[in-house]
Amino acid sequence: MRFETIGFIEWMKTRARTKIDLTRSSVRNFSLKNLNVKREELEIFGPNDYGYPPLLEAVASRYKVKEENVVTAVGSSHAIFLVCAALIERGDEVLIETPVYEPLLAVPRAFDAVTKRFERRYDNGYQIDLEKFASLLSPKTKLIVLTNLHNPTGALLSRRDLRDLVGIAHKSGAQVLIDEIYLEFLEGAESETSFSTEENIIVISSLTKVFGLGGLRCGWILASSALAKRLRSIIDYINVDGVFIGEQISAKIFDQIDSIKDESKETLEKNMSMIANLIRKEEKLSWVEPAGGVVCFPRVEAGLSGDELASLLLERYDTSVVPGSFFEKPQHFRMGFGVRPDTLARGLENIKKVLGSGLHF
Ligand SMILES: Cc1ncc(COP(=O)(O)O)c(C=O)c1O
Repeated sequence: MRFETIGFIEWMKTRARTKIDLTRSSVRNFSLKNLNVKREELEIFGPNDYGYPPLLEAVASRYKVKEENVVTAVGSSHAIFLVCAALIERGDEVLIETPVYEPLLAVPRAFDAVTKRFERRYDNGYQIDLEKFASLLSPKTKLIVLTNLHNPTGALLSRRDLRDLVGIAHKSGAQVLIDEIYLEFLEGAESETSFSTEENIIVISSLTKVFGLGGLRCGWILASSALAKRLRSIIDYINVDGVFIGEQISAKIFDQIDSIKDESKETLEKNMSMIANLIRKEEKLSWVEPAGGVVCFPRVEAGLSGDELASLLLERYDTSVVPGSFFEKPQHFRMGFGVRPDTLARGLENIKKVLGSGLHF
């Protein structure tokens, strides 16, 4: 194994904090005081050998799967690591989307995978070109890695494309890891997990993005019973037990998470339309409008790059967005809009000022 710096994660942790912070990719942090949990009901120790049973039950019932198909994890970050540890052997090929949330590329590489990339192109609405995708598979392909909704663009894959992609992978004996951490920003059928035990799909998610509960570190993996068993035995190498009190709070609030989600819905809609308005009017910006979620990935059209825009915002206007190069696309920038509308409005004004200043041309 080799652990190289994950530039994006390091940058997120060490970047200068700004008055207007549009770098984050979740709704605003939810506070413990607003959760319906009584302190006297909580304990430090309890039964959670392979996950706290009421939490396993809550996850299984939300996603209509059996408990044997659920593995709890310390956030999706832990889930990514566990899945790669369970499946990848040195030299296995792993096909990974680009642009990509960097840990989804870095972790397979840490496990000595040979990584190949399939492009999600701007001019194709960040969908997946299945023909090109199919041409990348080989008998050595062990795993396909993608996000749905896509981070950084918020694009949604159609059920049909996803089914076809899984079929192509299946024929080649590869498994498909779908990171659905943003999917439940959508509503109804679109928000339903793609996990199915009959297919070679592994799904990971957590309470971080949609529900603003990242501090609980409540993540999970949906996997076949055989893979779930292997994942649990890998947990024995890493953390043996989960954090009981966190699992206990998560289990208690699982039936409240839809109402927690509803609280941010109006703000997100308002914010998305503010951004859409700006991009409609601002000829130096273009985008593929996200299907939903909390991030978008505008492209800067003239005279400067997304990375330069991010630097100028920081230097002149105490405003931060994620430079596109962290997602392998320096012409873009990622903007998170899970903030208060007045904060976003000020951030957008600052973007207009940078684009209108002409100083960079
Ligand atoms: C696609 C994706 N997966 C996983 C994570 C990590 O989430 P967690 O807080 O659950 O570890 C993130 C966070 O940005 C993400 O964007």
